[in-house]
Amino acid sequence: MKKTRASWSGSVAFVLAAAASAIGLGNLWRFPYLAARYGGGIFIAVYLALSLTLGFVLLVTEIAIGRYARQSQLTAFGELGHPKWNFLGVLATLVPLFILPYYNVIGGWVVRYFAAYAGTAFAVIAPAADPKAFFDAFVAAPWAPFVAMCVFTAAVLVVIVLGVKNGIEKANLVLVPALLAMAVALSVYVATLPGAGAGIRYYLVPDFSSCDNVGKVVLGAMGQMFYSLSLAMGIMITYGSYMRRRDSVPKAAVRIVAADTFVAVLSGFMIIPVVVVFASAGAAEGGRVAIDAGPGLMFETLPKVFLSLGAAGPWIGLFFFTLVLFAALTSAISMTEALVAAVCDFFKTSRGKSVAVIGVWSVAVGALSAFGYGRWSSLKFFGLPPLDFFDTSMNILTPIVAALICVFVGWILSPKRILAECQRSGERVGFRLFYVIMVRFVAPILIGAILVSEVCRCLGIGGWTI
Ligand code: PHE
Repeated sequence: MKKTRASWSGSVAFVLAAAASAIGLGNLWRFPYLAARYGGGIFIAVYLALSLTLGFVLLVTEIAIGRYARQSQLTAFGELGHPKWNFLGVLATLVPLFILPYYNVIGGWVVRYFAAYAGTAFAVIAPAADPKAFFDAFVAAPWAPFVAMCVFTAAVLVVIVLGVKNGIEKANLVLVPALLAMAVALSVYVATLPGAGAGIRYYLVPDFSSCDNVGKVVLGAMGQMFYSLSLAMGIMITYGSYMRRRDSVPKAAVRIVAADTFVAVLSGFMIIPVVVVFASAGAAEGGRVAIDAGPGLMFETLPKVFLSLGAAGPWIGLFFFTLVLFAALTSAISMTEALVAAVCDFFKTSRGKSVAVIGVWSVAVGALSAFGYGRWSSLKFFGLPPLDFFDTSMNILTPIVAALICVFVGWILSPKRILAECQRSGERVGFRLFYVIMVRFVAPILIGAILVSEVCRCLGIGGWTI
């Protein structure tokens, strides 16, 4: 007899877990940058429209596949009666397998900043006078980035060892509401700072003059949406496999999209006004202020802003990095779970053994990225430091996986199977035609466009710099 599969205790727990996976560094350090760069309100509107259509469809698809198959992404496609498509499970597993190690390295950076701000807030250490020099010295240090990564990874593994209900669910119950409350509080604080109004207008008011290239706005929004909703990484399949049959898939999907988008938009309120007004970072670019994306924004620009806030700075910094830490932890937890579940399902081993395997993997491969800017800085893959190489290659693999999932569901499996899975909870599914058209035609074409633009960007063709 098959062992019964773990399950969430209810639909709230599932939505919380999926939203916790979705809300991560992408919401915090990339969405605000893209909105600031690509026309403010225009980008936000395009993003909303895309996530409620394409994002919703893809999310429903992955969750339903998982719930039907009751398997993680690695073995789910075979379970649906198409063993030839098992290769897609392998591809979908490769994505978290290679993202997790370097995500943990970045999680380690967040741990380091959290510790630094805790130190300065409690006046144990003086704040770094030059945030950029601090960051550069830290990532190049012989051991610090590796040790920080290990601390972050250990925290994730503890939650995973405790299991789906006792670990992931309980952690999310604390981390997600705390994160939301902190994000709202920080946005309100920023709105009360003098001059914030101009920054908020800059963020929200559509600026058509900066949208010379509509294609870039749409592609930027679409790429962001994929990453942000944790799509094409197997995570939603694995998390769906723990979902109860009586819970509604479409309703859960709408809530996940709403929560993820809410935090993305909120991040803009937290970050854009301070960067635009207080740090006046970067030079004006086409009439818009250039805001750094990614690590530059989080580990250099924002610390400069915190420094300028005087005595409140270290506390705001501590508050902010606690929020970032929670966001990064819950995303890393979801990736680790997708991998642990894959090892369990495939090798039919115990959870403990799978956690050990994935733990060793992520520390070993993560070491390449952790040491990649310091003691192993001569190590390059195709001319890139390891972390950048893994990031770039996963940006290309993700759309391939997403497009193949759509082709598989639309043309091989039949969209009816997914819709039937959605109806299991006894509800009427009102978006049948919309779903079929999206999954068969619209989604593969749009995802194909992302793939082409990613490849062009990688090869430096056509000036794609999204
Ligand atoms: N969705 C997360 C974010 O927005 C990132 C993530 C990537 C989470 C991969 C899980 C897996 O940052």
